Amino acid sequence: MDDLRQKYLEAVASVTDEAALEDVRLAAVGKKGEIALKMRELGKMTPEERQVAGPALNALKDEINSALAAKKEALADAALDARLSEEWLDVTLPARGRPQGTIHPVSQVTEEVVAIFADMGFAVAEGPQIENDFYNFDALNIPPHHPARQEFDTFYMHRDEGDNRPPHVLRTHTSPVQIRAMEKTGAPIRVIAPGRVYRSDYDQTHTPMFHQIEGLAIGKDISMANLKWVLEEFFSAFFEIDGIKTRFRASHFPFTEPSAEVDIQCSWVDGQLRIGEGDGWMEVLGSGMVHPKVLEAAGVDPEAWQGFAFGMGIDRIAMLKYGIPDLRAFFESDLRWLRHYGFSALDMPTLAGGLSR
Ligand code: PHE
Repeated sequence: MDDLRQKYLEAVASVTDEAALEDVRLAAVGKKGEIALKMRELGKMTPEERQVAGPALNALKDEINSALAAKKEALADAALDARLSEEWLDVTLPARGRPQGTIHPVSQVTEEVVAIFADMGFAVAEGPQIENDFYNFDALNIPPHHPARQEFDTFYMHRDEGDNRPPHVLRTHTSPVQIRAMEKTGAPIRVIAPGRVYRSDYDQTHTPMFHQIEGLAIGKDISMANLKWVLEEFFSAFFEIDGIKTRFRASHFPFTEPSAEVDIQCSWVDGQLRIGEGDGWMEVLGSGMVHPKVLEAAGVDPEAWQGFAFGMGIDRIAMLKYGIPDLRAFFESDLRWLRHYGFSALDMPTLAGGLSR
């Protein structure tokens, strides 16, 4: 019996996994194990022998069983320890930085302008960037061969040879949206239309693609005085300067009569553009009373309705407000420029919360 004890206790001690431990258990205390065989031999013994051997066998069985149980627990603990050390996670490690994009000044300023005009009752209208001849020119009182067509440096789309229809154009201004908006809802109407426009022009303040925002207000008695008030109201809200200096210059557009171009007071100091100071002027918009022919082309009765329109350069006023000297950089996608002049995605411009921070 001492041999059995030694054999199985050593076997229990030396196994290293649960499957091997189970083998030892079956061989020792299983139904057909060595202890069970020994139990059977008790029957052949004399009562005296049995009285000694029986309890001794039971005690041995108990001893082996508790060694097995202890080993089983030890193996489970070891397995857990191994897993814990393997699956270790350093929760104090700083998180990996994620690249954060910024909102482009053009998007930011568009949102700002829309917020200000929305507050004055203007809805947002849209039109296509590839326009046809009618909306970009004819309906705006610029017939074929009108000199204004040349002034625009228009990009023309391709037409197949022999196809003599006038080519589509990349819209040269947002004014065609005036026509589309009036066709859609008629008068009265009060809309602004921000978007991309295209002209073949390139220098420090001109790029072949740029952004405008069109304004249109048609009613029974809307006048030039309303135009001046709306624009001045807009400029002081946008630049956050009360009584900002503007200059209305008499001008000419085929689609407005009378017409005025509007400049904003500014200065250039060490390549830095500043508004509301100095003796420079930056032209930011064209405007005027909508020409009767334009109303007519859009299906609005010029005998009953009148109003103003304006077209403003979004990039221009972005340069002025945020002191950005070169327009061309707007469209170069230089990450350093975008990080410097870009805005946080979470700073939505609103009139109540502040237009920019
Ligand atoms: N469409 C004109 C331009 O791009 C601007 C403008 C719009 C002028 C509306 C008058 C009225 O130059």
